[in-house]
Amino acid sequence: MADKVLIVDDDVETLRLVGLMLERQGYNISAADNGERAIKRAQADRPDLVLLDVMMPDMSGYEVAKQLRASEITANVPIIMFTAKAQVDDRIEGLESGADAYLTKPTQPRELLAQVKALLARSKAARTAQAMGKAPESRGRTIGILSAKGGLGVTTLATNLGITLRKLTRESVVIADFRPGSSDISAGLGYSNSNGVMQLLRKEAKAISPVDIQRELVAHQSGVHVFVSPQRPRDAVYAMRLEQYRAIARLLPSISKYVLLDLGPSLPPLTQMVLKYCDEFLVAMEPSPASIQQTKQLIADLISLNVGKGRIHVALVNRTRSNLQMNWSTAQEELAHPISSVITPAPDLAYKASEINTPMVLQQPSSLTAEQFTKLASAFVQAE
Ligand SMILES: Nc1ncnc2c1ncn2[C@@H]1O[C@H](COP(=O)(O)OP(=O)(O)OP(=O)(O)O)[C@@H](O)[C@H]1O
Ligand SMILES: [Mg+2]
Repeated sequence: MADKVLIVDDDVETLRLVGLMLERQGYNISAADNGERAIKRAQADRPDLVLLDVMMPDMSGYEVAKQLRASEITANVPIIMFTAKAQVDDRIEGLESGADAYLTKPTQPRELLAQVKALLARSKAARTAQAMGKAPESRGRTIGILSAKGGLGVTTLATNLGITLRKLTRESVVIADFRPGSSDISAGLGYSNSNGVMQLLRKEAKAISPVDIQRELVAHQSGVHVFVSPQRPRDAVYAMRLEQYRAIARLLPSISKYVLLDLGPSLPPLTQMVLKYCDEFLVAMEPSPASIQQTKQLIADLISLNVGKGRIHVALVNRTRSNLQMNWSTAQEELAHPISSVITPAPDLAYKASEINTPMVLQQPSSLTAEQFTKLASAFVQAE
């Protein structure tokens, strides 16, 4: 998962040329040809950097930069202003409106590339420093894990990916179950219902603090921490506590470097509310025609709810060994969306995992399944 650059210019030829140049250097490109679309794209795609033209009809680059800075989601994205306006006053206005660097057109591709690289490196260093607790506003990354239908392997992905991320990075990891009433993370790891979480969810949302949440996290032997939602079937009513879950989703990244949300199947109100707090999404899919069609609809719905396509990663989870099943390239073609990860069938390991409450990657750290999770986790780490 390469760094994502959003290019904003009303001149389509510039968009194309700069886009091609950066694409050849391995960046993931998205483009917008006016200010309004730029802001929408930035919210949907969460780019790692924005290359912003100044003189555009309707909304100037200065205004776009100001609005990006004003939104919680895009406040910290590095911005390079890229413009034909070369006066000192213009540069000052650019920097004052929130740009990090200023380049005048025409620019040598080499200079542009050097600026892009330098700014990306600087922002990564700043993020790492924050994650290590050096700055109060440190923020982790949230990965929402979901599927079109139940039982496709969402919880298996959440637990095994979380444990693998912890193992690879030694960073803090929280796996949070956001399915009150039908949570199975707790059962999978051997935890029982917690009264503390119910009390937390009954609190006024405004009063929920990071310390309150931290108190309810359960430490797992692997080093990850788990947030267990109330799990009795009747506890499904807690899904109506939208504002409380919103506070938890918003605050978890201030507690932990990686936050994995087990969102379960479909897009119930709780999941739709949480979408904006997720940086990335991992969708579990089965290699069957029905699952592919349903996943297609899920992806289309996510996109219509303002999740950029580039943030949606699909994991093909094969749970049964069958000669009738599709291979991943056919599945990918049918889905018309890249498949980022393939998990092969491991029925014995999976069965034992629930029997002894030990996720697959811990049971057999050198298994093919563990290797597949290492690959998946590395892709998320590299995407930072
Ligand atoms: N790679 C695999 N091979 C075989 N079985 C698997 C594999 N991955 C998961 N399973 C099994 O598939 C079943 C469903 O997995 P899991 O509980 O993770 O799905 P889910 O999407 O969380 O389900 P729910 O919607 O009920 O929460 C479980 O019994 C699990 O052990
Ligand atoms: Mg589950």
